[in-house]
Amino acid sequence: MRAQTKQLSDVIPLPASVRPVPAANFTITPGTAVNAAPGTTGVAAHLGLPLAADGPIRLRLDEALPAEGYRLEIAADSVTLSGGSPQGLFWGVQTLRQLGDELPGGVIEDEPRFSYRGAMLDLARHFFTAAEIKAHIDLLVQFKINHLHLHLTDDQGWRLEIPAWPRLTEVSGGAGTGVDGSGPGFLTLAEYADVVAYATDRFVTVVPEIDMPGHVNAAQVAYPELTADGQPVAPRTDAEVGYSSLVAGMEETYAFVEDVIRTVADLTPGPYLHIGGDECLSTPPEDYRTFLTRVLPLPGKYGKRAIGWHEIAAAELPETAVVQYWRIEGDEPNVARAAAAGRQIIMAPADRTYLDMKYDADTRLGLDWAGHLSVERAYDWDPADRLPGVDEKSLIGVEAPLWSETLRSVADVQYLTFPRLPAVAEVAWSPQGSRDWESFRARLAAFGPRWDAAGVAYHRSPEIDWPGRTV
Ligand code: ACM
Repeated sequence: MRAQTKQLSDVIPLPASVRPVPAANFTITPGTAVNAAPGTTGVAAHLGLPLAADGPIRLRLDEALPAEGYRLEIAADSVTLSGGSPQGLFWGVQTLRQLGDELPGGVIEDEPRFSYRGAMLDLARHFFTAAEIKAHIDLLVQFKINHLHLHLTDDQGWRLEIPAWPRLTEVSGGAGTGVDGSGPGFLTLAEYADVVAYATDRFVTVVPEIDMPGHVNAAQVAYPELTADGQPVAPRTDAEVGYSSLVAGMEETYAFVEDVIRTVADLTPGPYLHIGGDECLSTPPEDYRTFLTRVLPLPGKYGKRAIGWHEIAAAELPETAVVQYWRIEGDEPNVARAAAAGRQIIMAPADRTYLDMKYDADTRLGLDWAGHLSVERAYDWDPADRLPGVDEKSLIGVEAPLWSETLRSVADVQYLTFPRLPAVAEVAWSPQGSRDWESFRARLAAFGPRWDAAGVAYHRSPEIDWPGRTV
């Protein structure tokens, strides 16, 4: 049976502008060729169709469009996709692929609401290999996610090789360093470079996070000289937080931190380096500020912008620092003050974007400290309306973090990510005034059969009227 022709607006995230032209449908067959103008052949490869100078699908760059924007015109005998840059063109390719082989006629003109549309994966509590991360990127870019934040270090494990400090991964990337003693692993320099290159080819910026001054037990297990008394500490594979801290008053701390930041900055082409800063419950507030005053300028010294979880807003922030709001009652005024002082904010409130929250009481994975996060809750909010004093112009975007305490496999990642990540992606991309839960719900249902066919272990949320399985 042929797939039913879609509507031109059957796309997630919903495009900014859609003008259908009935009866102008175009059919892609395996022989349909792509005419790729100079500068577009790399992106054209993502269409999986042959290239030919007389191909009816035309790809080109148009500098009059916004860099991440694109224009897609579907007529009966041709398809023209123009991008403001190769990145904009790549997002247009995602739209084209979502529309399938029976393309409905008309014109889509699209550009994102926010420039930072992120997903985070926690490699510290459970490690995922380079191949697994790359496969995850393939699923994320379909929804125009353009930043992948990798939480690389925490109390349990250290997941990125740092050559000057080899025991970080020899000891704390070894067997049994995941939560509950689950899987070993870390990314070698070559594996990290491979992930970054794969992401870059798909216009995704990798944002590496080295969490400090708290969440550092794995570092202190590997190097006891980083503890206050120099005594060894025991490895921890439970899911407690807030018990470990680097020592603000010791020079050894800063030698370590600067080596790590320099190494990670050298390995990372993107503009950001995330220094964590969350849940430092065993760092006295004065020490926390002393530490951050020394450390927040270091990413800038090595050519990067510092991002930190929103607790960093208690300290003096460099002008380029970015604050990632994740929700602690009482911290909001600090975040608003940072915004008023011109700092940019990423919205990642746990009760709307944390993919590790359970969908409902029956969800077999995940946590519930921020409540249950249904698909509708992940969808039905406005990031510019979340915090008093933090409006549209202070926001660079939105991120959906996935913490891995309860995860043991890629299937677990997919179960919590899909279908909520598409909801957060639409929040981050589409104009607020055009978004509507009923429309999203209907468009989302069409992804069920595709995810079934692709073997994606998504959650068949009862909020969505999934078409029946055919197997
Ligand atoms: C966080 O969830 N501790 C940032």
